[in-house]
Amino acid sequence: MKIAMGNDHAAVEMKQEIMAYLREKGYEVLNLGTDSSESCDYPLYGEKVGQAVASGEADLGIAICGTGIGISLAANKVPGIRAAVCSEPYSAKLSRMHNDTNVLCFGARVVGTELAKMIVDEWLSAEFLGGRHQRRVDMIMAIEKEAKGAMER
Ligand code: RB5
Repeated sequence: MKIAMGNDHAAVEMKQEIMAYLREKGYEVLNLGTDSSESCDYPLYGEKVGQAVASGEADLGIAICGTGIGISLAANKVPGIRAAVCSEPYSAKLSRMHNDTNVLCFGARVVGTELAKMIVDEWLSAEFLGGRHQRRVDMIMAIEKEAKGAMER
């Protein structure tokens, strides 16, 4: 499985730790984030991760900024992306099981590295349940489709 990772300056070390952790576990990781501590703009990296996942270049994405919020907002603007900020493992797991999230976000200034690893583990090992949850995810995606149609009209 290939995972696209993106981050801004606030999350360089966290990205590097999680990237190494995932590689140790056998995942292929695409590093789309910055490796510099110089201030930069998180929307660029949220978009990069979103595009890698939406295009199929990566199977899933992990995007990290200071809080996880800005980068998740950016990733969610890429059609087909369902990104969620999760600061603990329960939400991460349920975001896969119920919401079929394809991008996980968290904040390097919010969670520590060990908690982040647990969040990532729960997210990656959970599976989408489908059924009534599929109907609801379809409803979310229909909003995106409707908005796109309205813009083209
Ligand atoms: C950068 O200072 C910070 O705003 C960013 O990492 C993130 O937390 C935004 O949501």
